Amino acid sequence: MRRHLVAGNWKMNGQVADGVARVEELAGLAAAQPAACDVLICPPATLIVPLRGYVSAGAMALGGQDCHHDDSGAFTGDIAAPMLADIGCSHVIVGHSERRRDHGESNERVAAKAAAAHRAGLQAIICVGETKTERDAGDAIRVVTRQVRESVPDGAGAANTVIAYEPVWAIGTGDTAMPADVEAMHNTIRTELAEMISEESERLRLLYGGSVKPDNAVELLAIEDVDGALVGGASLKPADFWAIVRACPGV
Ligand code: 13P
Repeated sequence: MRRHLVAGNWKMNGQVADGVARVEELAGLAAAQPAACDVLICPPATLIVPLRGYVSAGAMALGGQDCHHDDSGAFTGDIAAPMLADIGCSHVIVGHSERRRDHGESNERVAAKAAAAHRAGLQAIICVGETKTERDAGDAIRVVTRQVRESVPDGAGAANTVIAYEPVWAIGTGDTAMPADVEAMHNTIRTELAEMISEESERLRLLYGGSVKPDNAVELLAIEDVDGALVGGASLKPADFWAIVRACPGV
């Protein structure tokens, strides 16, 4: 019912030549071993236009890593959602924990960014996830439930929204959440979404992120209610990223 989505978040890495080489290698892998899921690349904003021509048509989509909550204006250094749509993006990540931490983004601000993405015709990938302190305090479910309630804007549905559960302590650390904990959290998120957006919630995709690698992808992607992955470090290595794509059920 829900087609898996594997998204690579390249974060702040790479210059044009690196990006082109990586995408050319991915295109080769995609041709030899087709994906049974949707594949998305979210490179740094500077690489989106240079990579457009290399992303094999239909095989992969391009997305931004953040957008502003307004459509235009005096916001030095920011990028608006319509600008991402204009250069060929179909998705944008909003509310990544690195932005919540480094740029003080609140749930309300994340909801406004997701709403801006929707206005521009983009799918918003809304990130949520608890810190280690919150998990150790037994607060993970409460924190993430609140993030979902407050970060998902009115008008969200399966066609314009993806939720990525990324426990902060699992990002870039090599630690992944226990499959049982991922399953419990994804269940909780879907239950919350059912109250917020009713029947659409069954079709909305929930991704897991946090140290997803080829050696744990099969187990994570087989979990009920895990509809794909948001991949950081491993997405910079084409062979590893494609192994994760191929770990989706159905290949
Ligand atoms: P890692 O896969 O490097 O842990 O990063 C996850 C992430 O933050 C993706 O958005």
